[in-house]
Amino acid sequence: MTTNILKPKDPLAIASELLDILNHGALSLMISIGHRTQLFDVMANLPPSTSDTIAEAAGLNERYVREWLGAMVMGGIITYHPNDRTYELPSEYAAFLTRQATPNNMAVAMQFIPVLAQVEDEIIRCFQQGGGLPYTAYPRFHEVMAEDSGQSVVAVLDEGILPLVPRLTANLSEGITVLDVGCGGGKAITKLAQLYPRSQFVGVDVSEEAIALAKSHTEALGLHNLTFEVQDAANLNFQQPFDLITAFDAIHDQAYPDQVLKNIYENLKDQGIFLMQDIRASRDVHQNLDHPARTFLYTVSCLHCMSVSLANNGAGLGTVWGEETALEMLQDVGFQDISVKQLPHDPMNNFYIVQKNTD
Ligand SMILES: C[S@@+](CC[C@H](N)C(=O)[O-])C[C@H]1O[C@@H](n2cnc3c(N)ncnc32)[C@H](O)[C@@H]1O
Repeated sequence: MTTNILKPKDPLAIASELLDILNHGALSLMISIGHRTQLFDVMANLPPSTSDTIAEAAGLNERYVREWLGAMVMGGIITYHPNDRTYELPSEYAAFLTRQATPNNMAVAMQFIPVLAQVEDEIIRCFQQGGGLPYTAYPRFHEVMAEDSGQSVVAVLDEGILPLVPRLTANLSEGITVLDVGCGGGKAITKLAQLYPRSQFVGVDVSEEAIALAKSHTEALGLHNLTFEVQDAANLNFQQPFDLITAFDAIHDQAYPDQVLKNIYENLKDQGIFLMQDIRASRDVHQNLDHPARTFLYTVSCLHCMSVSLANNGAGLGTVWGEETALEMLQDVGFQDISVKQLPHDPMNNFYIVQKNTD
């Protein structure tokens, strides 16, 4: 079996394809800049405008804005009207590139490209010498992750994710205890605490930076049913077991995922539920050839998820550990009742609904 996607072997076509890759790589970086500078949001509210007008409306330097606009026009995202030298963000693109478009704002994920590129030198050293990089090596990681989670988890939590678990919303309304492992910036658990005031919520993360970010997000909300703690999930320390434990995109990059899953099992009440969101892919490379985010997944793994685990002499499972490995590892710690569900329009994630049965 060959694992190559069939492509024309004509040298000119190959060169042209590689040039396209160069252009697209450059464009992803410029889309990230457009998001961070709010240029897309500003342009979505302007009629076709000159670079001067756009720069002024965004409070940015015109010369830089004009060069960015050039890249966007070349990338086919922004339309240029040469007669009056105006630029326009078509509504079809605004629907995927503005904050108003949340949860469909794809500019959010583009930020991972520059976040990852920042560690290129260190990762090359890892290629040569092994080892990995700690979370602290990635400026803005937790901030971008929290923004991404705001779209991929929080926006679909109430109407999409929670109903995947039978009776869960009813139980949350009545009042249960919930732990979120690897909560990062805490957006998901905060949303849950807001929605279900009778339940008690705790978010833990090993990163002090992530917990500080989570606390800063929630301070103004004055929630009395939510706390955050810096804790290593490989050494979870709670007096009482929980009714529900969640892990959103937080198991595959663990240094000791087997230990973390064992701790989750032990910190669940009998009949308690573990809800694990993790990457929907196979551990076999050739099974992922049609995955819509295939190259991105292996890249983010190599430059981040696998590396942060290896930094602690960990398992280095990587982003593409696969449904097969996930199921085996859940079963190894004693979970027997596992179902895997998906949400329509979310090709990236599996939702593992795991019940602890001790009989
Ligand atoms: C990919 S991020 C996901 C964060 C968050 N759940 C979200 O969806 O935005 C993984 C998180 O797991 C945390 N983490 C990694 N190892 C951990 C450990 N041993 N104990 C607790 N948290 C850990 C990281 O600090 C990071 O915030």
